[in-house]
Amino acid sequence: CGIVGYIGKRDVAPLLLEGLQRLEYRGYDSAGIAITGKAGGLKTVKAKGRVRELESRVPKRFAGTTGIAHTRWATHGAPNDVNAHPHLDAEEKVAVVHNGIIDNAPELRAKLTADGVEFASDTDSEVLSHLIGRSQAATLEEKVREALRHVEGTYGIAVLHADFPDRIVVARNGSPVVLGVGEKEMFVASDIAALVSHTRQIVTLDDGEMATLKADDYRTYTTREGSRTAQSPETVEWEAASYDMGGHDTYMHKEMHEQAEAVDRVLRGRIEDRFATVRLGGLNLDAREARSIRRVKILGCGTSYHAGMVGAQMIEELARIPADAEPASEFRYRNPVVDPDTLYIAVSQSGETYDVLAAVQELKRKGARVLGVVNVVGSAIARETDGGIYVHAGPEVCVVSTKCFTNTTVAFALLALHLGRIRDLSVADGKRIIEGLRRLPEQIAEILRGEDEIRKLAGEFAHASSMMFIGRVRGYPVAREASLKLKEITYIHAEAYPASELKHGPLALIEPDMPTVAIVPSDDLLEKNRAALEEIKARSGRILAVSHAVQEKADHTILVPQNEPELDPILMGIPLQLLAYFTAKELDRDIDKPRNLAKSVTVE
Ligand code: G6P
Repeated sequence: CGIVGYIGKRDVAPLLLEGLQRLEYRGYDSAGIAITGKAGGLKTVKAKGRVRELESRVPKRFAGTTGIAHTRWATHGAPNDVNAHPHLDAEEKVAVVHNGIIDNAPELRAKLTADGVEFASDTDSEVLSHLIGRSQAATLEEKVREALRHVEGTYGIAVLHADFPDRIVVARNGSPVVLGVGEKEMFVASDIAALVSHTRQIVTLDDGEMATLKADDYRTYTTREGSRTAQSPETVEWEAASYDMGGHDTYMHKEMHEQAEAVDRVLRGRIEDRFATVRLGGLNLDAREARSIRRVKILGCGTSYHAGMVGAQMIEELARIPADAEPASEFRYRNPVVDPDTLYIAVSQSGETYDVLAAVQELKRKGARVLGVVNVVGSAIARETDGGIYVHAGPEVCVVSTKCFTNTTVAFALLALHLGRIRDLSVADGKRIIEGLRRLPEQIAEILRGEDEIRKLAGEFAHASSMMFIGRVRGYPVAREASLKLKEITYIHAEAYPASELKHGPLALIEPDMPTVAIVPSDDLLEKNRAALEEIKARSGRILAVSHAVQEKADHTILVPQNEPELDPILMGIPLQLLAYFTAKELDRDIDKPRNLAKSVTVE
C-alpha cells in the first residue's frame, strides 16, 4: 500500500494524485484522498480500482492545501469503495490512512461497537479513526498517541483532523514513513518515490516514532513518551527521472534494458585486482570472523529468494561454505535452530518485506549475525542488519523484479568471491572470476540486443495453458525464477523442476501442449541435461533450450554468451525475462501491475 500527504500553499489534490500515481506499484486495488477544505471540515473521495478511477471522481471544487491519500493492496476486506482509505470517525472530523495490519482490530472493533460506534468498512484500519475521534485529549498529537496505546500490530499512518487544520500527524511502527522537507511545504509518504519530484531532503522515521508536519516546520518525537527525537534531513541520491518510463512502454521493459548499466554499478569501485578479490565496505565482517563461518543461510521472498538460491550456490562453490536459501516466512515459523557459527543473509529489493524483516528481528533477538543484501538504501532491513551489500540496481518500479534480481545475483558473486579469497579460493580462480564479472555488462547488453528473436518466439507460448521449466544445480534457480516471472505477468501456469526430478513424476504431464524451457549450460552437467531433453522429446514434448550451443533435441535454442561456469546463472535468466515479457505482451496483460500483486508486501 502507499501513503502520501502534503501541507503547504499549493493546491493539494493534483499533488496527491501525482504522488499516488508514483506509489501505485505498491498496491492498486483502490485509492482515496482526504483534504481539509478552505471552509474547514474534511472532504474525501474514494474509488475502487486504479488512481485514474479516483482522479475521475475528484470534484471540480476540491480545493485545499492540506491532505492525505492512499493506494491500497487489500488485506482485510475486499477491494471496494468503502474499504478504500482514508477512513473517517463517526463525526467525520478525523481521516486516517494506514499501511500495515492492526492485529487486535477484532477486539477493538467489538469494544467500539459495544459502545455504539457504527463501522463503515470491513477494514482493520478503521478502528484507528474511531479511537482517535473518541479521544478526549487536547491536542491531535495526544489523541493519536492515546489511540496507538490501544493498538497492537504494524502501522505507518497519516492523520488529518478538521479541528487542527494546520497539521498532519504521522506515526510509524513496522511500516515505512518518510518525510519530505520542502520550501514552506512538507510532504509525507510511505516511499521516497512519491517525494523525489518535489524534494530530495528526506527524514526517515524510526519504529516507535511520530512526527507533526506543519507547512514550515516538522517535529519528531517518540510515540510512547512524546519526547523529542533528533532527526535531520538527509539528501537522497535517486533522481526523479529514474522513476519515469524513459521512452519505454512499460517499466519492466525499461528496467530489463537497464541491466548492463546496473551491473556495472554494483561492480564499480569494488574490485581489488592486486589481491584478486573484492572490497565490500559495508560488510562489517573481518577476515577472522569470515573464516569462522561454518554455514550460510540466506532468507528472502519471491524473486529475492530465488536470487538467494543462486547466491547460496555461488558461496558453496567459491567459498566452500555449506549454504542454502529458504523463504523467510518458512524459516520464521518452523522454530529454526539458530547457530552462532552460521552467517544469516537477508535479501530484499525494497528492504521492507515484512516476512524478511520479521525473520531478521527474530534472528537478532537470538544473537545471530545477520547481513543484508538490499537495494533500497536506508530501508528497514538495511538498518536492522549488522552490515551488508547494497545492490545499487536503482529504483525498480515494475511490480515484478528483473534488474534487481540480476544485480542481487552479482552482489552474491562478489560476496562469494570475497569469502572465497579469505578462505581457499586461489589467486588464479579469483582472477578468473573477476574477469568474468567484468565481462557481464557487455554480455548482458548482447542478450538484450537479441530481444527481437525472443519476441518472435513468444507468440508460440502465449497460448500454452501450462509450461515446465527445468534446470540442474546452477540452472535450477534460473528455472525457478523464469517460471515465477512467467506466472506473475502472463498468468500462465508454470512449474519449475530440477531436470533430474522430471522422471520421478512430472514427466507424466509432458505432451505437445505443455512446452518445456530447459536451462542447458555447457558445463560439466551438459550430458546429463541432454539426457533430460531426450526424455521430453521421446514424449513428444516441445522444448525451448537456453544454452551456450545449439541443442539438437530442442525445437529452438536461445543462445546465451558463455561466462565462467559459476557466473553463468546470472546471464541465463535474462532471455527468459524477455520471454515472459513478450508473452505477456501477446496476451495484452497489465505487465507493470499484474493482478493481485504488489511490489512491496509490508504485511504478513
Ligand atoms: C513481492 C513482489 C515480488 C518480490 C517480493 C519480495 O511479493 O511482488 O516481486 O520478489 O515481494 O520483495 P523484496 O522487496 O523483499 O525483494
